[in-house]
This record gives sequence, C-alpha cells and structure tokens, in this order.
Amino acid sequence: MTTLTAFDRQVWQATLRHFRPPEPSPYLADPVGWIRDRLGEHVWSKQREIAESVRDNRRTAVKSCHNAGKSWIASRLCAWWLDTHPPGEAFVVSTAPTYKQVHAILWEEIRAAAKKAAAKGKPLPGRVLQSDEWKLDDGTLIGFGRKPADTDEHGFQGIHRRYVLVVMDEACGIPGQLWTAVEAITTNADCRILAIGNPDDPATEFAEVCKPGSGWNVIRINGLETPNMTPDLVAAQPSLAELFDRLGLGPSAEFVPEGLRPLMLDPEWVADKITRWGVESPRFTSKVLGDFPDIGEDVLIPPALIRAAQERECQPGPWSILGVDVARYGSDRTIIMLRRGPVARVVGDYAKQSTTETTGKVIAACREYHVDEIRVDGVGVGGGVVDQLVEQGHDVVDMQAGAAAIDSEHFANARAEWYWGLRERFEAGDIDLDPADDDLAAQLGAIKYKITSRGQVQIESKDDMRKRGLPSPDRADALMLTAAAPAMPDQIVEDEDIVDADASISLY
Ligand SMILES: Nc1ncnc2c1ncn2[C@@H]1O[C@H](COP(=O)(O)OP(=O)(O)O)[C@@H](O)[C@H]1O
Ligand SMILES: [Mg+2]
Repeated sequence: MTTLTAFDRQVWQATLRHFRPPEPSPYLADPVGWIRDRLGEHVWSKQREIAESVRDNRRTAVKSCHNAGKSWIASRLCAWWLDTHPPGEAFVVSTAPTYKQVHAILWEEIRAAAKKAAAKGKPLPGRVLQSDEWKLDDGTLIGFGRKPADTDEHGFQGIHRRYVLVVMDEACGIPGQLWTAVEAITTNADCRILAIGNPDDPATEFAEVCKPGSGWNVIRINGLETPNMTPDLVAAQPSLAELFDRLGLGPSAEFVPEGLRPLMLDPEWVADKITRWGVESPRFTSKVLGDFPDIGEDVLIPPALIRAAQERECQPGPWSILGVDVARYGSDRTIIMLRRGPVARVVGDYAKQSTTETTGKVIAACREYHVDEIRVDGVGVGGGVVDQLVEQGHDVVDMQAGAAAIDSEHFANARAEWYWGLRERFEAGDIDLDPADDDLAAQLGAIKYKITSRGQVQIESKDDMRKRGLPSPDRADALMLTAAAPAMPDQIVEDEDIVDADASISLY
C-alpha cells in the first residue's frame, strides 16, 4: 500500500480542483442580491419582479411607462448574467431601434455597472468596451449590442453558448425578422429573452408577445404605481389626484432611497402630460399608464410612422416654410413651425400672447431662418396676424382650414386635404421630426379621421377633440400648415391687396 505524502495530496487536490466544474455562483438564483452586494444598488419592486422573471422564465416582456428604470434593470441583469455563469459559457446580446439607444443608454449603463463593481474592489470579468462589446481578458467575446440595421437575420448567427441572454430594449421599434433571429439563438432551456419597452404601438411583434397565451411572462409597469406617486406628491397635483380618484387607485407607499427619486417618473411631469396630451390620448396610455393604446383604423397617422419620422435624419431642403398656428383659447399655444424640405422643427412656442407679439415673433423667425413662405392659420384671431404681417410688407398665405378643398370630391374641407397631405408625407418617409418633441408626437397620434356619407375624408374637429378630453393640437396643426400642398395664387395675400382690406382676407 502506498501512502501519499503531504506533497502528493496537494498535487491530487489541485488536479481535482482543475477538473471539477467550478461551484455555481450563489447569486445565480438571486439577481437582486447580486445587484445589492456586488454594486451596492437598490432595486425597486417592479425591477425586482423583472429580475426574478428573467431568472425563472425563458421569455419576459415588460410593457412600461416612461422612466421606470427599465433600461437600468436590463443592464444590471446583463452584468449579473455574465458574472454568475461560468466564464466563456454565457453570452449577452442587446438590441434597440437606434444606435443611441444601444450605445448611450443600455451599454452606457452596463459600463457604469462595471465601474461600480471595480470601485467596490471586485471587478466584473473581462472588459466592457466603448464599442458596446464585452470581452474576457483573453479576448473572447461574451457580449455585444447592435441596432437592427446592423444585425439582419444572420447578424446573430454563430452565437453558440449554453447561456444566452438577449435584451430587446424599446422593443416596440424592433422589426419582426429580428424577433425570429432572437428565437433562433435562444433555443435551449437555459437561454433567456427580456423584451422591454414603451407599449406605444399595438401593431407590432412586441404587442403580440404581450398578449395572453403568447408564452411570454408579461409584466406591466403603470406609471401611477411607481415609487414617486406618494400621497404628498400626488395631492400636490390636483389633476393627478383627480385621476387617481377616478381610477380608484391609492398612492404608493414604497420605500426607495432618496437619491433614486429624482431619476424616476415625476408626478409633476405626469400632471403636465394630463394637460398637454390629455388622459385619453394614445401617448398617455403608453407613456404613463404603461399599456397599449387602442389604435383603430380611424387614426390618421399610425404610431410606427410617427416613430419612423422621429428616428429619420434627413438633409434640410432649400425651400423654407413657416407654419403659424395662432392660439384661440386661454390654454392653447401659438406655435411657429419651420419646415425645410423634409425637416420640420418647432421654432416658436408661446402662451397667452397678443397678435402683435405673435406678428413680431413671426417676422423675427423669418429673418433668422431666411424663410421663403409664411403660412398663417387665418381663422379667428389668426386673421389679425395675417393683416399685420401684410401691413408690414410680408407676403402671407392665409390658411383657411374650414374652406372648401381643392379636391372637394375626396375631402370635406381644406383641413382634411392638408392633413391627408401630411399623412402621405409620413407614408412616403418624407418627413423628419424632432425625436425629443413628445408633445408633437402625442398630438399627431391622437388625430382621427372618418369618411363621410359622401365619401369624403373628414378630420375630427378641434371641438370634438376637446370633448374627448384632448387639448388643441397646436403643434400638429402648425406642421400640417407647412406640409399642405403648394399655395393657390388666390390664397397669397400681398401688400397691394390690403388697400381693399376686407375683401382680401375672405378668400373663398
Ligand atoms: N434602481 C436604480 N438605481 C439607480 N438608478 C436607477 C435605478 N433605476 C433607474 N435608475 C436611473 O434612472 C434613470 C431612468 O432609468 P431608465 O432605465 O433609463 O428608465 P426607462 O428605460 O424606463 O426609461 C436612469 O438615469 C437610470 O440610471
Ligand atoms: Mg429605456
């Protein structure tokens, strides 16, 4: 019988350790504990629900309000996934509609997580690069983020790991074929998909997976149930308090660290949206209530077209048109929209302003932007602005929305014809909107049309919108003015006409 020397024993133990699989991380079953212990961060209740769902379900879909910490929790789960699985056996893929969403949001949060772990003295494995890739120290790629245009169906091929986690951020904007590609790399039971986003478009794959029976675990984050909706903060916003009452909801009693509060959905912001968008607008349903709006056939410009216009980056054209929508009631706003070819931006937004002040702002905008054509909504108070501009020597197109359409066979009035022209621009991909202009997007998405008994297109009137609890679509109207077909010669009010003042204004 041979006896092992102490040295032999050490050699044997080292050899056995080498061949024995590493102990699974105790945090594999505890993503929330991992975030707390490794990064020192707090996870609020819905983020916890998301984390536990990703641990337990192959497919998780989160439809959520704005600013709920969706991208944040997704980034933490990416870090947890790669840190708790054996090195080289796990992989993380993320995608989102735009490069900015991939690079500046999700992967920026992943880089922040890596920095936090390092600062706490226990770095995450490998390195997270500025190129939105994660590599082990030996160069092995263990994760990356790509926008859909850079990852066609084949872009994900070749990822053969046992543990793959795919994050689809802003999932409503991710095209259908990418969902198929994601399914193809997550075929085994150890893989996970997390699709998160604002549910703004019911005509998407994201909406399909959020339906009951889809096989996905669906989590909804209603903004009215987020941690800042405390009794005090809700009571401070009367319109919000009234909404809570109407929906029979109680305020939140959830503890979150004070440092987190300023980053999360703000009751004052919600109250502002109640006024600016209206509780009944599709955008309020998605951005605040975290649910898919009911978007019927009667919506003039579907959400996907609005989103595409916001994501598009076009070169401005040579011809500059100003569209001026003049406020009529106390809460309405006067909007000056500038369109240069496909590129349209609000360049003036004023409340409670006299017509002379508006005229001054229009003239200033003309000089600043070298405007070729001014179009003013000349109905009601706007008529005063038309007169004053003409008096000061400017050529103005007096836009009378209630007048007959040029093609009166198909359109109930000029407003319908102009709005239809705007819709066609969206369909043709010939419009580039400010991605940050949520109010414009909200107003455009709320406009409905119908076909009259005579077969003409008719746009819902502002009065009917008001009755539905929607504010006046000032920004959308100003855009529509810039996008209407070229002016008819008799619409242009020129200086000489002003001599015969009354007649020149009533053009029809
Ligand atoms: N639990 C958390 N701890 C610290 N910061 C957080 C947490 N959740 C969210 N944040 C921060 O709050 C902000 C909004 O979160 P984000 O994930 O971008 O929201 P969403 O994707 O829902 O719009 C970001 O600055 C994010 O870093
Ligand atoms: Mg986000």
